[in-house]
Amino acid sequence: MSVKATWLSHACFLIESPKARILIDPFLTGNPLAPVKAEAVAADYILVSHGHGDHVGDTVAIAQRTGATVVSNFEIHNWLAAQGVKHLHPQHIGGGFDYPWGRLKLTLALHGSALPDGSYGGNPCGFLLTLEGCTIYHACDTGLFGDMALIGEEGIDLAILPIGDNFTMGPDDALRAVKLIRPKRAVPIHYDTFEVIRQDPGAWAKRVEQETATRVTVMKPGETIAL
Ligand code: NI
Ligand code: MN
Repeated sequence: MSVKATWLSHACFLIESPKARILIDPFLTGNPLAPVKAEAVAADYILVSHGHGDHVGDTVAIAQRTGATVVSNFEIHNWLAAQGVKHLHPQHIGGGFDYPWGRLKLTLALHGSALPDGSYGGNPCGFLLTLEGCTIYHACDTGLFGDMALIGEEGIDLAILPIGDNFTMGPDDALRAVKLIRPKRAVPIHYDTFEVIRQDPGAWAKRVEQETATRVTVMKPGETIAL
């Protein structure tokens, strides 16, 4: 397997395979933890989970500079088209599509999705990516839901889970999420970016590893792991 995952802080990940560079929720400008500037990020695909500013982030600028194809739900697709983004692929929750680099399915997420200008962003989603024999579930912004067990049935190598609380699952519910998903490995995200989502990821990792068979990797912004 030859997939690398780099955490660019908050919910932003860069997934790299020999076939593509896939950037998820690129909130870099205005993000106090961002390890890179939006101008320096490369991408062939950008995935946008929902309309909030800390997820749409620099999508329009990066897409225009790189020519990356942006994948999102149909409502955000329409909004991005109106912003002048040229290469777009709309999907929706429950639907999968086979890209040249692998398969992407949009999953349920319990959250909101208004766009920065107040436009309707449709329903928020999470992402299930299968590439190079590796299955990654990025839950994006969500509360806990029982159907995470169904996502887990797909056999998850890496689960990327919010632990920040306040806007998403906090540590307790993220631990319950791990028990439902049963991934080989989990990475906590969406914490410490703002004062209201301060958490102790090391303490969470300890609890998860005591109570489940999942291995937790606490990443630093800018850090890369091999899958
Ligand atoms: Ni959000
Ligand atoms: Mn968020």
